[in-house]
Amino acid sequence: MAERKLLILFGSQTGTAQDTAERIGREAKRRHFQCRVEALDSYDVANLINELLVVFVCATTGQGDPPDNMKMFWRFLFRKNLPPSSLCQMDYAVLGLGDSSYPKFNFVAKKLHKRVLQLGGNPLLPVALGDDQHDLGPDAVVDPWLLDLWDKILALYPLPPGLEIISPDVRLPPKYTLHYLAEDSSRSDGGLLQPTAPRAVPSELHPFAARMVSNQRVTAESHFQDVRLIEFDVTGSGITFSAGDVVMIQPQNSPEDVQQFCQLLRLDPDRHFVLKPSEPEDVRVPLWVKKGGMKFPADPDTTVIMIGPGTGVAPFRAAIQERVAQGRRGNCLFFGCRQKSKDFYCQLEWEELVTKGFLMLFTAFSRDQEEKVYVQHRIRENRKLVWELLSCRNAHIYLAGNAKQMPAAVAEALQSVLQSEGGLSLSKAEEYFTALERSQRFQSETWS
Ligand SMILES: NC(=O)c1ccc[n+]([C@@H]2O[C@H](COP(=O)([O-])OP(=O)(O)OC[C@H]3O[C@@H](n4cnc5c(N)ncnc54)[C@H](OP(=O)(O)O)[C@@H]3O)[C@@H](O)[C@H]2O)c1
Ligand SMILES: Cc1cc2nc3c(=O)[nH]c(=O)nc-3n(C[C@H](O)[C@H](O)[C@H](O)COP(=O)(O)O)c2cc1C
Repeated sequence: MAERKLLILFGSQTGTAQDTAERIGREAKRRHFQCRVEALDSYDVANLINELLVVFVCATTGQGDPPDNMKMFWRFLFRKNLPPSSLCQMDYAVLGLGDSSYPKFNFVAKKLHKRVLQLGGNPLLPVALGDDQHDLGPDAVVDPWLLDLWDKILALYPLPPGLEIISPDVRLPPKYTLHYLAEDSSRSDGGLLQPTAPRAVPSELHPFAARMVSNQRVTAESHFQDVRLIEFDVTGSGITFSAGDVVMIQPQNSPEDVQQFCQLLRLDPDRHFVLKPSEPEDVRVPLWVKKGGMKFPADPDTTVIMIGPGTGVAPFRAAIQERVAQGRRGNCLFFGCRQKSKDFYCQLEWEELVTKGFLMLFTAFSRDQEEKVYVQHRIRENRKLVWELLSCRNAHIYLAGNAKQMPAAVAEALQSVLQSEGGLSLSKAEEYFTALERSQRFQSETWS
C-alpha cells in the first residue's frame, strides 16, 4: 500500500489560507495521514518532484498577486526551463481564496492549477474558488469541495484495515503539551525544536525560525541592567555572517497578549513553563541577519585596536573569536563597564585569551571608585602602546557603543595620543585622524 503522506502547501497574506491549510491538516490526521503543512516559500521546492499527494491552498492579494510567503515559489514555478513532465508523479488539488469584487478573482489559484497541470500533475478535482463575497464566505465553496477531496483521496489511499476516520467528537492529540518547570528552575530552553531548513536567505519578510541554544544573563543578578548573551542555532538557514553583523529578531507577544493568553488558558503567569511539541517540529525565534557597519581587516595579520564600552563590545567578541581561531595575536581591547563584579561581560573569556597571549585587555570600571574611569582614560594611560601599534604595526582602530558623548571623548583621546607620542600639532593630529577614517583604518558603529 502506498505511504499515506499528504503535503499541504499554502500561500497566505493575512492568514485565511493558512488557517484553511491547517484545517485540512487536521482533517488529514483524522484520516490517518502523515501530514505536513508549510508555507510555500518555507518548503524546499526541489523536493516537489518527489511528492505524490499535494494540496495547495492559495490566496490572491494585491492586484492578482501571490502572497509574500509564496513569491519565491511562484518565480520558480514559472521558469521556462522546467521540463513538461516534472510533476507527473503528483496527484494534486488547488484551493483558492479570493474575492470576486476584485478584477483578478482567484488569479493565483487558477494560474497555479493550470501550471501544475502543464507540468504533468494529475488534478484530483477542479480548482476551488473560495469567495469572500459569498453570503457564507469562502466556506460555501471550501466545505463541499473538501468533502469531494476526501472522497477522491480515500479512494486512492484507503484507510488501513481496522482504522476508521477519527470522529469530530474526538479530540486530536494536542500539537503542544504544557509543562510547568520546577519553582526554582530558571530554564527556559527546555524542549525546543530542531529547525527545519529554510529555502532562501532569511530576511525581514522571511525570518528564519532559529532554535535558541542558550540564553545567559551576563550581568550580576543585583545589577540594574539585564544583558543577555543569546546563542542561536542557524544550521541549515542559509545565513552567512561575518564578525560585527547584527542579528535582527522579530519581536513577539505583547504583555497584553500574554496576559490574555494566560487568562484564557488559566495559566499562572508567574510560573515558568515550556511548550513541548507533540511532533518533532514552530518554538523558535524568527530571525535574520543585518550586515554590520564595520569591516574588519581582510588581512588577519593586521593588528586591531577595539574600543567597546558596555554592549559595544559585542561585535568585537565575534571579531576576536574569529581572529583567535586563525591564530592571530594582534588583538587589543579597551572595555569599559560600571562595576567589575556586575557588568564585566565575558570576563572569563577575555581573561583566558589574555593568559594565552591572544589579547591585550584594558578595562575601565567607571563606578568602582569615586572618580569616573572610562575607556578614553585607559587609552591616554596606554598612549605609548597605542601609538606604537598605530605607527609601527599599521593598526586598525574600531569603536562601538553608545552614541552620546563617548565617541567624541574617545576621538579626543586618540588625537591626544597622536600629539603627545607622534609629536603632531593639534591640527595635524586632526588631519591624521581624518585620514585614518577615510582609509577605513578607523571605523565606528554607535547607537542611541
Ligand atoms: N541600538 C542598538 O543597536 C543597541 C545595541 C546595543 C545596546 N544598545 C543600547 O545602548 C545602551 C548601552 O548601554 P550599555 O550599558 O551597554 O553602555 P553604556 O551606557 O554606554 O555604558 C557602558 C560604560 O560606558 C560608560 N560611559 C558613560 N559615559 C561615557 C563617556 N562619555 N565616555 C566613555 N564611557 C562612558 C558607562 O559609565 P557610567 O554609566 O558609570 O557613566 C559604563 O561604564 C543600552 O540601553 C542598550 O540597550 C543599543
Ligand atoms: C489588499 C487585498 C488585495 C486583494 N486582491 C485580490 C485579488 O486581486 N483577487 C482576489 O480574488 N482576491 C483578492 N483579495 C481577497 C483575498 O484573496 C481574500 O480575502 C483571501 O481570503 C485572503 O487570504 P489570506 O488571508 O490567506 O491572505 C485581496 C484582499 C486584500 C486584502
